[in-house]
Amino acid sequence: MNTQAKPASGWDTMDAQAFMQREKAIFDPFATLSNEWMIVGAGIASDWNGMTASWGSVGRLWNRDVAVCYVRPSRHTFKYMERSDRFTLSFFDPSWRSALDYFGSRSGRDQDKASGAGLDPVCFADDAVTFAQARLCFVCRKIYAQDILPELFLDPSIAAHYPKKDYHRMYVGEIQEVRVKRE
Ligand SMILES: Cc1cc2nc3c(=O)[nH]c(=O)nc-3n(C[C@H](O)[C@H](O)[C@H](O)COP(=O)(O)O)c2cc1C
Repeated sequence: MNTQAKPASGWDTMDAQAFMQREKAIFDPFATLSNEWMIVGAGIASDWNGMTASWGSVGRLWNRDVAVCYVRPSRHTFKYMERSDRFTLSFFDPSWRSALDYFGSRSGRDQDKASGAGLDPVCFADDAVTFAQARLCFVCRKIYAQDILPELFLDPSIAAHYPKKDYHRMYVGEIQEVRVKRE
């Protein structure tokens, strides 16, 4: 079980479009996801889990600002994604790389990942957990989920990502709040 999240302090709040206009310099989705990754988190302050992810996107869908992430059913985080109405995407400076390595190579099934990685979980609301060390967090409301279906691959080489056939579930989240850590 992960360390209980304490109430967060020292964060600004804005909506996704205001964030993108004002804070472009601190968030390039391509570079951030490729090089710095993110932690996908779900659950409540007393019982949450998170994992590193590098596949995802942000954009517009159904006239909403959305963020998309992909979680394999084999992940402990999957259970939390399924039972939660919201999820968070947390982003860190590159100096936290080893913590993201940790979150991407251990499972919350058998340990407290937060203390193992040296991260302090904090929450904006009971069901919106992030970390005191993050620089940025998208709080998302789940609005759509769908499994990746191999029969729909238009490029057969994509199948190479699924030797165990554990196809991701795609979660589309409406970005309710963008939280930016104050310096
Ligand atoms: C750089 C990196 C990116 C990853 N991206 C994803 C991803 O997008 N989706 C996914 O399901 N797992 C991804 N993983 C794997 C999970 O983070 C990993 O299996 C983790 O240990 C799952 O933890 P959990 O069992 O506590 O949920 C990634 C791992 C790393 C290191």
